[in-house]
Amino acid sequence: MKPKVLITRKLPEGIIKKISEVCTVELWDEEETPIPQEELAEKMINVDGVLCLLTENIDKKLIDGSPKLKVISNMAVGYNNIDIEAAKKKGIIVTNTPDVLTETTADLTFALLMATSRRLIEASTYLRNGDWKTWSPLQLAGQDIYNSTLGIIGMGRIGEAIAKRALGFNMNIVYYNRSRKLDMEQSLNVQYSELDDLLKESDFIVVMTPYTPQTTNLISEREFKLMKKSAILINTSRGGIVDEKALYDALVNKEIYAAGLDVFETEPINLNNRLLTLPNLVALPHIGSSSINTRYKMANLAAENLIAGVLGNRPKHVVS
Ligand code: GLV
Ligand code: GLV
Repeated sequence: MKPKVLITRKLPEGIIKKISEVCTVELWDEEETPIPQEELAEKMINVDGVLCLLTENIDKKLIDGSPKLKVISNMAVGYNNIDIEAAKKKGIIVTNTPDVLTETTADLTFALLMATSRRLIEASTYLRNGDWKTWSPLQLAGQDIYNSTLGIIGMGRIGEAIAKRALGFNMNIVYYNRSRKLDMEQSLNVQYSELDDLLKESDFIVVMTPYTPQTTNLISEREFKLMKKSAILINTSRGGIVDEKALYDALVNKEIYAAGLDVFETEPINLNNRLLTLPNLVALPHIGSSSINTRYKMANLAAENLIAGVLGNRPKHVVS
């Protein structure tokens, strides 16, 4: 008998077909709505594997209520939506989709950095609103990128890919990480820095750490006070790492110049969130890895991890 799997969102046809060749597939066939938690719990009772997205909260209750489950394949590099400890206790493999999204996410991070510093969204809105009456000396003047200092918090694969882009802009690069990366310091000419020093020195601060209890609100009131008034904060990792209330205050009180966020404490962001009233905040709907190529590769990798897991083989990307 084929193993049974649940796929929690519509994926490209070819990917579903590939999984169906090996497994009996149950699909939550919606593009715009996540599967409700009760329905997820009900469907997981009977499956050997689940392919899920970061929108699914795979908590202990769900894991403990899924007696046949062997593998949880997350279509994302981050996996803070899964209770890893609960899965480990039950011998359930958890997998993610690293590597394939590294360059695409670094591209978007850089796009957000550029959009924020050069006020692209604001400028485009200004033009479309009919406010462009003439050329004037300080019209929509922003911050320079070239020759500035970039501070990267969390120097993993994506952090490194961002550093490579920054070299092309002649940026001076500092990083903070749990462990030093001496080889990379040499090859990319980047300097290790303690977190507080990085916050004080950087013109651009890019948050690139995983979201864990240790990194929750890593950037909060105290950290904003250390930053330059001209500093720009970019977050394309996970919302909870930056304290949104403290960010709002820092932007309103001009403690920093601007911020670019691709991720939020609550997603989708509530449209009443005060952050969205600020012109010096560029907000994107969690599209870091969203190129057509990369999203296909992620779906494909998630499928391969799922199939390996339900067949009792070791998947390529096991996180625990
Ligand atoms: C997206 O945020 C991911 O973790 O892949
Ligand atoms: C601006 O367009 C310039 O020519 O300086």
